[in-house]
Amino acid sequence: MSSLHIEAKVGDIAETVLLPGDPLRAKYVADNLLEDAFCYNRVRNMLGFTGTYQGKRVSIQGGGMGMGSTGIYVNELITTYNVKQIMRVGTCGAIQKDLNIGQVILAMSASGDSGANMTDFGGMHYAATADFDLLLRAYEAAKKLNINTLEGSIFSTDTFYADHEDRWKIWAQHGILGVEMETQIIFTLAKRLGAKALSILTVSDNIITGEASGSQEREQAYMDMMKIALELA
Ligand code: HPA
Repeated sequence: MSSLHIEAKVGDIAETVLLPGDPLRAKYVADNLLEDAFCYNRVRNMLGFTGTYQGKRVSIQGGGMGMGSTGIYVNELITTYNVKQIMRVGTCGAIQKDLNIGQVILAMSASGDSGANMTDFGGMHYAATADFDLLLRAYEAAKKLNINTLEGSIFSTDTFYADHEDRWKIWAQHGILGVEMETQIIFTLAKRLGAKALSILTVSDNIITGEASGSQEREQAYMDMMKIALELA
C-alpha cells in the first residue's frame, strides 16, 4: 500500500521525518549526513529518503512551499506511513529588526492567516504549538552541539508576496520573530492526527531591514539546523 502522493511502501519511512520545503534539500541531507540512504519517493519530484544517522533510522521528505502542499505530506506521512515525529527544517523571514541572518529559531507556536485553520475552527483561533517534548529535546541537543537557538513564536502565511506596508507591525509588536509558510498546518495536523511536531527555522532574510543571506552563511546555518533535527531521531 502507498498513498496518493508518496509511492513508498509502508515500512519504508522511519518514525521520525524531517520535512524541508525543498526536495533537493532532502537529497542534499541524505547524500551528506545520512548513511545507507535510499530514495523512496519520486512522485512529483517531491523526493523522500530514508537512512540512518548515528545508527538511528530517520527519513527526510520534501514538502513543497505553503500550507496546501505541506498539509498533503503531513497527512499522508502520519495516516498511511505511521510517522510519529515530524520536524520542519526550513527558513523564515525575520520581522524583528535585531534578528540576524543565520539565527536558528525553535518555534514554540505558529500564528497565521491560513484559510484552512480559519474554516476548520469556525472563525476562532487555534493556538498551533510545537510538541513540548520535541521542543525541549531540540533545545538540549542545540546546547550540546554548541548551536545558539532562539525560542519563540512565528507566523505562517499563505501569501509570500502581496505585502502591504506595515503588514507585519502588529505581529512584531506581539513578539512574533519571523514569517514562513508551513509550520501552522504541520502543528495543527500533527496534533489532530496523533503525531509530535516541531519546526526548526533559520532566518534567511530580514523583512524589516532588507538584509538577505549570502549562500555560504545560509549553508552553515542550514546544516546546524539539520544536525539539531537529526539528533532527535
Ligand atoms: N516570507 C514568507 N516565507 C519566507 C520568507 C518570507 O519573507 N522568508 C523565508 N520564508
